[in-house]
Amino acid sequence: MQIVAAVQTIRERLKSEPSVAFVPTMGNLHQGHLALVRQAREHGRCVVVSLFVNPLQFGPNEDFSSYPRTFDQDCAKLEGLADIVFAPAVEDLYPELQQIYVEPSPLADELCGAFRPGHFRGVATVVLKLFNIVQPQAAVFGKKDYQQLHVIRAMVRQLNLPVEIVAGETLRAEDNLALSSRNAYLSAKDRTDAVRLYRNLALIRESIVAGNRDFLALECAAIADLKAHGWRVDYVSVRAAKSLEPAKAGDMSLVVLAAAWLGKTRLIDNLEICLN
Ligand code: PAJ
Repeated sequence: MQIVAAVQTIRERLKSEPSVAFVPTMGNLHQGHLALVRQAREHGRCVVVSLFVNPLQFGPNEDFSSYPRTFDQDCAKLEGLADIVFAPAVEDLYPELQQIYVEPSPLADELCGAFRPGHFRGVATVVLKLFNIVQPQAAVFGKKDYQQLHVIRAMVRQLNLPVEIVAGETLRAEDNLALSSRNAYLSAKDRTDAVRLYRNLALIRESIVAGNRDFLALECAAIADLKAHGWRVDYVSVRAAKSLEPAKAGDMSLVVLAAAWLGKTRLIDNLEICLN
């Protein structure tokens, strides 16, 4: 496995590669990330993983500076799974003030976007930059960040990027909490309580599968339950899986998404609901 920091070096290294599969990450890798890397192997001869905490996607009061950076451990975990680790410095990827952005559709201002203004603009912009540097034929993204996957797919379609976007399933801990780098922020007590988010999503799914179509009532009940147990809720929302528009009674392919705070930690999760 080769570790590369400079943009020019990785460009030259990848020139002779006929097919590259790419997994962009911000590091602090867990089994969810590693599952995407294993999946990438099925989509290209050379597997590239990027480790880059992207300042452009963090708001001024968010956790950019405290985001866990664990470069050596990450490289050890990738040994034997990836061929190349691309870990640029911020100045490498942003040598001048970034004034050109990818502006995602208005949908990126809903759900997480409503609470993290500019977040998806920062994500889409860095992913396009990384795609231009790595030039993969396929790139793997997790369903854990469902709205992010939606934004990236839309970018690829609407900007005609020659990249196949592959979706990876969400990996969960034994109690069903979705694995996330931010879980490390949870206190021992909060880590035990954290599964309540998944449980509420699972209840909504169960109720919809049983025929309930009062999405608003289901969302409100979940919000009330979380609040009653000390959570601060950003949103719980049932959406059409493909468009991410608010769900309508006849939709057969749905997803319920949520974001909520437990103490100082913001957790997100989602569950797909297939009614066929
Ligand atoms: P990061 O949060 O490091 O996530 C990297 C990839 O891992 C994303 O595609 C994310 O959806 C996926 N992932 C996270 N937790 C997962 C889990 N439990 N199961 C499966 N996949 C999971 O997402 C980002 O980084 C950044 O926004 C990035 C796309 C790299 C742009 O900076």
